[in-house]
Amino acid sequence: MIEFAKVSKQYSRNVFALRDITLSIPKGELLFLAGPSGAGKSTVLKMIAAIERPSGGTLTVSGHSINTIRPSAMPYLRRNLGLIFQHQRLLQDRTIVANVMLPLVVTGASRSDAEKRARAALDKVDLLDKANAEPQELSGGEQQRVAIARAIVNRPQIILADEPTANLDRENANKVLAALKSFHGVGVTCLISTHDDQYLSGADRIVYLDRGRIVDGWRGAERYPDEEQA
Ligand SMILES: Nc1ncnc2c1ncn2[C@@H]1O[C@H](COP(=O)(O)OP(=O)(O)O)[C@@H](O)[C@H]1O
Ligand SMILES: [Mg+2]
Repeated sequence: MIEFAKVSKQYSRNVFALRDITLSIPKGELLFLAGPSGAGKSTVLKMIAAIERPSGGTLTVSGHSINTIRPSAMPYLRRNLGLIFQHQRLLQDRTIVANVMLPLVVTGASRSDAEKRARAALDKVDLLDKANAEPQELSGGEQQRVAIARAIVNRPQIILADEPTANLDRENANKVLAALKSFHGVGVTCLISTHDDQYLSGADRIVYLDRGRIVDGWRGAERYPDEEQA
């Protein structure tokens, strides 16, 4: 479903964000992308979403070549992607359910249909009771779960979550991860990045990045996560 073949990414003359990444991600896999800050995790996710393009090698996502994708084909690619990126905010002047409805409304769904599906998505992240609240009434962890609901409301085939647990305490981080993990049982491919090795459990696979390369294990912390050996 997602195929990196010797992909590199160079942002400028001396910034190599990724070098020689070869990685094949089958449909339905739950994969953690781990590594310290600056390792290249966000760059990997941005390339899958065609926000950035490879400088070398080839990348294919759901049959689309990211190297050559035309702007006119982007909506078809993005329709299959649920993006949970950092620094994405909820609209503060709209209710929670209105925020989750947004991706459906912009693609032409009727209001009643959009609202029904938005409520179902909120139910999946256990926030149906907050549907009519305003974003500022929710905790950081709850807002992050709303972002997940908004990302999955279109029923995407691939979910990309860039450090969805950043700035959350352990309890909220675990809730956010549990919500994400619940989708992969239904055939959705799910990539979650993290620079925090305490959350690396329950994945089909952990891919470690360090300074733009795939490495064997965690290099950003003193210890290797136990889950990987198990
Ligand atoms: N838009 C950009 N322009 C220039 N350099 C960038 C850009 N985005 C990321 N980088 C650099 O690429 C490297 C990898 O960044 P990133 O993919 O954001 O890593 P991570 O998400 O693991 O922290 C870093 O050295 C970063 O400074
Ligand atoms: Mg990042």
